[in-house]
Amino acid sequence: MSITCHLVHADGTTTTISARPGESLMQAAVAANATGIEADCGGLLTCATCHVYVREPFASQLPPAEADERAMLEFTASPCQPNSRLSCQIALGEALEGLTVDLPASQH
Ligand code: FES
Repeated sequence: MSITCHLVHADGTTTTISARPGESLMQAAVAANATGIEADCGGLLTCATCHVYVREPFASQLPPAEADERAMLEFTASPCQPNSRLSCQIALGEALEGLTVDLPASQH
């Protein structure tokens, strides 16, 4: 079973990827060679280059960001918004089938 996720690039194009349950959105995007999520730190919560804007209804379904994630969200290259999350902290599961996120214009 796989989870389908949609990455909407800043230019309006969309990349659709397949993920395994338990993977993070960042891991799935990197495995698919998707552009727009850099993930310089490999998921260690030290880079903020995996920033995404999560669309509803998914944004409200995610567990709230932990303190470490909130702290790193202050270092995103593109403006942080209420639906900003770090994709290495988004654990994919069946409930997130169809997850759609907007990618920021820049991660650096
Ligand atoms: Fe570096 Fe998410 S990959 S903070």
